[in-house]
Amino acid sequence: MNARIAAVDYFLPAGELTNEHLSVQFPEWTVDKIAAKTGIRTRHIANAAESEASLAVMAARALFDNNDIESSAIDFVLLCTQSSDLSSSAARTVQRQLGLRLGIAAIDINLGCSGYVYSLGLAKGLVESGVAKNVLLLTADTYSRYVNSADKSVRTLFGDGASASLIAAGAAESRHLYAFEYGTNGSGGNALIVPNGGRRPGQDIAPSSATDVRGLVSNGFDLFMDGPAIFNFTLSVVPTTVESILHKAGLGLDDVDLFVFHQANAFMLQHLRRKLGIPPERFFISLENSGNTVSSTIPIALSEAQKQGVLQPGMRVMLLGFGVGLSWGGLMVQW
Ligand SMILES: CC(C)(COP(=O)(O)OP(=O)(O)OC[C@H]1O[C@@H](n2cnc3c(N)ncnc32)[C@H](O)[C@@H]1OP(=O)(O)O)[C@@H](O)C(=O)NCCC(=O)NCCS
Repeated sequence: MNARIAAVDYFLPAGELTNEHLSVQFPEWTVDKIAAKTGIRTRHIANAAESEASLAVMAARALFDNNDIESSAIDFVLLCTQSSDLSSSAARTVQRQLGLRLGIAAIDINLGCSGYVYSLGLAKGLVESGVAKNVLLLTADTYSRYVNSADKSVRTLFGDGASASLIAAGAAESRHLYAFEYGTNGSGGNALIVPNGGRRPGQDIAPSSATDVRGLVSNGFDLFMDGPAIFNFTLSVVPTTVESILHKAGLGLDDVDLFVFHQANAFMLQHLRRKLGIPPERFFISLENSGNTVSSTIPIALSEAQKQGVLQPGMRVMLLGFGVGLSWGGLMVQW
């Protein structure tokens, strides 16, 4: 059997942080300048009662309701998050709140912007090995909780959100999820990090995140981003990964109907698109109303592409994620 993405949906919290709000606080960046630089007009922000788990539950409910999926069919939950509210897994909260069966597996995966691609690889393994029949693959983050309100470079980019996908068996004769490529460079981890996010204080991990270097007051529990380093990392790994995926799949660039990359920011995506020579109509950008939602950007974009009629059955789609870690990965999907 071959695993496929049987359905995908998403959920964004109601609270919003618009460019208008941001430019009141940072008048040197106008509404249009932020939009031009990032491609983002608004981001959704979780309120105090919401968590990564509650956003994931809402995304799963949307998936079930919109696709007539019985929750009793789920036998494995994978939840990709980097902003868990509790020390126990968010996946177990989801199991309880969705009322899923007791005899199922539910685990978290700790990964950022490449997380959907990695989780798809794991879900494929579970389905194709016969370990699970219906994997509920969730991505959920509340990165706004990590963002220093005075740090305009990350505040303009990140938004909260969650996605839900059903990974199940598809037609045995078709390749549905294939030509996976992965990459990891742990030495670049300090370019995008919450320095004190773990149990060990972070000065040694990310010296450039120190308060005097950043020029803003920070207790180390907020997200530090070296924007140019992330930009350079992306420009160095994305083109070679695209080439490797095409080679593995036996395809050329023109054989791909749609490219859906991690929606980090539109400025960087357009730069990559031009460098790769991909025409705009085959390169899907969808972050104007959601911002960079970490591991949820690719499934949100897939769901939007489907709703807008851009993504049609049978299309060959390349997915590619990159970011925190540093970590990257991609694959081909036969939709
Ligand atoms: C952050 C990033 C957009 C900055 O781009 P850059 O061109 O190197 O930015 P610079 O700091 O040189 O600034 C260029 C201009 O854009 C402005 N600018 C930078 N970021 C901006 C933002 N978010 N909104 C509005 N203006 C912005 C600067 O103020 C500067 O304006 P000026 O020319 O009037 O002085 C770029 O480094 C980047 O895309 N990095 C990757 C970040 C990312 O995607 N992180 C998530 C990874 S998962």
